[in-house]
Amino acid sequence: MRMIWRPLLLALALIAAGCDDMHQQVSFQPQEAPRLTAPAEAVPISGTERLEFGQKLSNPYPSTAQSRLLGQQIYAINCTPCHGDQKDYPSKAGGHFEPLPPNLRDGHLSQYDEATLFQMFSLGFGRMPPFQKRLSVADRWHLVNYLRSAE
Ligand code: HEC
Repeated sequence: MRMIWRPLLLALALIAAGCDDMHQQVSFQPQEAPRLTAPAEAVPISGTERLEFGQKLSNPYPSTAQSRLLGQQIYAINCTPCHGDQKDYPSKAGGHFEPLPPNLRDGHLSQYDEATLFQMFSLGFGRMPPFQKRLSVADRWHLVNYLRSAE
């Protein structure tokens, strides 16, 4: 019987000694220097955009001539392929949609407030792709200013 206990006690003594060694070793406590730097973009510090339909937003960009001109240029590059412009509706690509993408210059956009317009093309709407990742927040507000003036 005593023979069985001996190796067990020896094992326990070794484990206890091992634990003690680990406790003594050099280690860093949480929040203690030197701290490792986080991988790039692990913590967004420039702010991410959290956007959803129905969210209350106010346009931070006044509708100046410069803002509307910027919006017009952004519209020409990103929106005319489907929505066309005044002279060209429906546009070449847009003409393949059934039903056609709406004409954004016929005045019907006045039924939407600015936040809803911003959310529609930022998040995508029905068959329209989202532009949140393609256009900056500022560019999308310039677009709103342009669309409002082009009604
Ligand atoms: C790939 C084609 C395509 C592109 C590019 C596109 N749209 Fe659209 N858009 C559509 C279609 C199709 C609809 C209709 C969506 C539906 O009802 O399913 C639509 C709907 C809309 C609506 C809603 C209008 C309404 O009457 O309800 C707005 C606003 C709009 N688009 C703005 C834009 C803006 C601004 C851009 C450029 C940043 C843009 N779209 C680029 C295809 C496109």
